[in-house]
Amino acid sequence: MLKLPGLIDPHVHLREPGATHKEDYDSGTSAALAGGITIVLAMPNTKPPIFDADTLDLALNAAKQKARCDYGQFVGAGPDNADWDETLPKRAAGLKMYLDSTFGELRLDNMTLWQPHFENYPKNMPIVAHSESRSMAAAILFAAVYDRPVHIAHISLREEVLLIKAAKERGIKVTCEVCPHHLFLSNEDQSGLTHGRSEVRPRLATRKDVDSLWENMDVIDCFATDHAPHTVEEKDSDNPPPGFPGLETILPLLLTAVSESRLTIPDLIEKMCTNPKRIFNLPDQPETWVEVDENAIYEIKASEQFTRCNWTPFEGWKVKGKVRKVVLRGRTAFEDGKILAPAGYGRNVRG
Ligand code: NCD
Ligand code: ZN
Repeated sequence: MLKLPGLIDPHVHLREPGATHKEDYDSGTSAALAGGITIVLAMPNTKPPIFDADTLDLALNAAKQKARCDYGQFVGAGPDNADWDETLPKRAAGLKMYLDSTFGELRLDNMTLWQPHFENYPKNMPIVAHSESRSMAAAILFAAVYDRPVHIAHISLREEVLLIKAAKERGIKVTCEVCPHHLFLSNEDQSGLTHGRSEVRPRLATRKDVDSLWENMDVIDCFATDHAPHTVEEKDSDNPPPGFPGLETILPLLLTAVSESRLTIPDLIEKMCTNPKRIFNLPDQPETWVEVDENAIYEIKASEQFTRCNWTPFEGWKVKGKVRKVVLRGRTAFEDGKILAPAGYGRNVRG
């Protein structure tokens, strides 16, 4: 039995408010616990989007009643909400900026709209940029010009990891995360995913891009799921929305990589606990741990998951490493396939 600290996923979409048929704070935090994750940071591209005090309250009130693991809620950068003082940022996980192709209404195309957010958002709180390729380069330049930290969400390309490496070597305050689907799937080998099911932003990249992420593992600060649940019916429709669920598959996929010597347990702890805790200023979780059966071999099945979306891009994958038990703040929150933490047990990390 392997004992890990409570793991942190800094990038999930819990769909509350507005699309709770896909997921809500209850089902999403249950999926997190089943995946060995004890803190989730939720993205603001909901309906309505989370961008001011009222909308933040909508999400936080739902979370307070329903969450089964600890959580934080991001606010989104919009065209008219860049006059940040201290109040709202103190209650939010951080600021999310959508600088590129995405699902939802929070996209900021014009760079003049980026400027006041980089200038005004408190510098001790993270800005997370959804940016790809050249927009990612622009986000790093903004971090350098305004001398503040920026965290690049879900990197997927060789050019991205190489530029981040160079920026870090020059002292620019940039950190980044990578998602399991960009480490285990490519656009050359989608393991039989149909068109709708392979839709995700950033798109699956080439084998060469995937290889370069593995080769530059030391540049990557965090693993994050970008858990983006859309129902299987929506994914198989004529207009499939982009996004993969990931909370229940991240740990078994990475533990399988550990069993194949492609990764180490200290790497995993650093990128799923130590680094996200530091980057996002998260509190300690006393008496919290995850027990894993490192040798359990099993098949990933959507039918056994707690996410409401009812599918996974890793259906049928054989993995090694199963979460047996999660203890969260002294209480057994998950054991042998059952969620034991009640709705409302989860705490706001900015509480
Ligand atoms: C995300 C979603 O569905 O909310 N989809 C995705 O493919 N990652 C939105 C996003 O992060 O762009
Ligand atoms: Zn996302």
